[in-house]
Amino acid sequence: MNWFSHVRDKETGAAPVPQTQGQVIRWPRFYDVILWVITRNKEPAFRRFVTDIAGLQPGESVLDVGCGTGTQALVAKACVGESGRVVGIEPSLEMVTYARHKARRRGLVVDIQPGVIERLAYPDQSFDVILCIIVLHHMPDETKRQGINEMARVLKRGGRVLVVDSNLQLLPSFEQEGFSQVNAGKLPFADGYTFILWKK
Ligand SMILES: C[S@@+](CC[C@H](N)C(=O)[O-])C[C@H]1O[C@@H](n2cnc3c(N)ncnc32)[C@H](O)[C@@H]1O
Repeated sequence: MNWFSHVRDKETGAAPVPQTQGQVIRWPRFYDVILWVITRNKEPAFRRFVTDIAGLQPGESVLDVGCGTGTQALVAKACVGESGRVVGIEPSLEMVTYARHKARRRGLVVDIQPGVIERLAYPDQSFDVILCIIVLHHMPDETKRQGINEMARVLKRGGRVLVVDSNLQLLPSFEQEGFSQVNAGKLPFADGYTFILWKK
């Protein structure tokens, strides 16, 4: 249960974030410290590995679902450049505010919006690439299935989804949505995490 889902986005006045059964994180500063520990002070290398595996190219449009404090979205923006577009969605307004602040401080234009993976507020076939980094284990199976269904909907034909997680027992749901696996492996700099790159 998300007890804070009635809170409006203070910056934009946007409607309340939809309820989610996902486990929402509300402590952005502490979260960044945890990432520093998990990656043994190698978070920049971890983030670059993710964008390399996803094969981000200048001009591409990227959706970062469950973007948290926005670190991965900012690295993605550096890869796609000014002609590219990066959107991050996140149910925690604390994370949203913090990620926007980080983007402004670094002078990067990244669109961070309140939202949930199971109900993406974008038209069909909007993005070339979706990043779903350490997010799916935060939700029950039914929410994961809805999220995978939504990612398939908003991804362009031929687009890629990169999933990084500690437990990737989701293969049937991706295959049912018409994805095929193009790469998979262990993540360096973060013990116990694996990745799968899917193509639609
Ligand atoms: C472990 S953090 C990962 C954050 C970020 N992707 C990263 O790479 O650092 C998981 C994030 O998923 C968010 N989350 C929880 N439920 C969600 C949902 N239904 N849709 C999207 N994100 C969700 C949490 O609030 C949290 O910020």
